[in-house]
Amino acid sequence: MPRTLEQSFQVRFSYAVEFTSQLFDTSNSVFARTVGRHQPASKLLVVMDAGLIAHHPDLPTAVAHYCQSHQLHLVAPVMVLPGGEGVKQDPIHVSLVQDAVNAHGIDRHSFVVVVGGGALIDLVGYAAATAHRGVRLIRVPTTVLSQNDSAVGVKNSVNAYGKKNWLGTFAPPFAVLNDLQLLETLEDRDWLGGLSEAVKVALLKDGEFFAFLEAHADALRTRNLQSMEHAVYRCAELHLNHIATSGDAFEQGSSRPLDFGHWAAHKLEALTDYSLRHGEAVAIGIALDSTYAHLRGWLPENDWRRIIALFQRLGLAVFHPMMLHSLEDASHPHSLLHGLQEFREHLGGQLTIMLLDGIGQGREVHEMDLDLVARSVRHLASLPPHSVSDSAQPTQAQEDSPWTTTATPAR
Ligand SMILES: NC(=O)c1ccc[n+]([C@@H]2O[C@H](COP(=O)([O-])OP(=O)(O)OC[C@H]3O[C@@H](n4cnc5c(N)ncnc54)[C@H](O)[C@@H]3O)[C@@H](O)[C@H]2O)c1
Ligand SMILES: [Zn+2]
Repeated sequence: MPRTLEQSFQVRFSYAVEFTSQLFDTSNSVFARTVGRHQPASKLLVVMDAGLIAHHPDLPTAVAHYCQSHQLHLVAPVMVLPGGEGVKQDPIHVSLVQDAVNAHGIDRHSFVVVVGGGALIDLVGYAAATAHRGVRLIRVPTTVLSQNDSAVGVKNSVNAYGKKNWLGTFAPPFAVLNDLQLLETLEDRDWLGGLSEAVKVALLKDGEFFAFLEAHADALRTRNLQSMEHAVYRCAELHLNHIATSGDAFEQGSSRPLDFGHWAAHKLEALTDYSLRHGEAVAIGIALDSTYAHLRGWLPENDWRRIIALFQRLGLAVFHPMMLHSLEDASHPHSLLHGLQEFREHLGGQLTIMLLDGIGQGREVHEMDLDLVARSVRHLASLPPHSVSDSAQPTQAQEDSPWTTTATPAR
């Protein structure tokens, strides 16, 4: 006689995302409070991004000094791993973190603290989530993209089989501590690249935020920290709201709205051997899917122009030559179009792509017309290289278009 037991329960997650400056200055109590509010005697293993340390050579010592003065138990000198996508490409780095967790007796009541860019945070998060089936992780993101997007969410991963984020976990962090000041030493491309995720959430969820980004595009491009502070904060807030309210925090359905522009972005990152940063690729992916939505007749021309103009004013490219490779053959692994299939495989279920009906207004579709995608790529390729001009004010963006070509919607 077959019998069935039904099981059902909920697990509630909550974590603070703090916005502060000079996190490891001994007078700043945020870090000590975050650790101490749970168990003052907890062990801490700190892993730091070598690319960050190159610009802040005193940071490992500052962490040690901070822990000493707040009586926090740092189990070893700060562990240093490379930053950037390369760290996610080589599984040895996962082992190195897990070896340290093992060697220093980091248990589920201890903390792994990762300080660095989104790539290192993804990797250390994956190592921490799989050690002892999950030890607590405090993320200290130090790039725009990680502060406003990747580190505030619930995903961890490394690359495998030549694909982005193929190995990974859904594991919310214990806390996220954003230090605004650290952003000042980013290379221009990392300062700017992370803004593409802000454009993404603005396009999907908040037209006013999009207008803010337009109005502050020049300030953002020229590294105004105050404008960046607002952009990071609002972007993080929109991401957090989405995760909390979408009803699918661990992405079990087919829909992944926050992956707007990402099917092409992930493929382009791989195609360029990661010479394109994630944020740079996302800008191109958004431009492509916006162009597709426009040519398909959904996204009004003015909105499309505003999107392209914003990226250009932010100094973010909307096209990469690799997009033209094998464009006529979607089955070719080096074709951008192959990225659609990989995206569907990664999610499972029905292909679901987020597009746009307007600024602040998404539309999900379940199929993409490959000819029209190819046409969208060629359309982006035909846009004249843009030189950011002082006259390109947000309010004029629609009238003083920098292009001579006009997209014609497909009927
Ligand atoms: N988990 C998620 O949900 C999620 C979401 C989006 C992106 N991501 C991942 O995030 C990664 C990209 O992260 P990223 O954009 O932060 O880039 P990154 O981690 O590759 O860092 C870029 C460079 O900046 C350096 N760096 C870090 N902090 C610095 C600082 N304060 N000053 C100077 N240099 C500094 C790094 O060493 C690196 O060389 C990708 O792997 C992407 O897949 C994950
Ligand atoms: Zn992204």
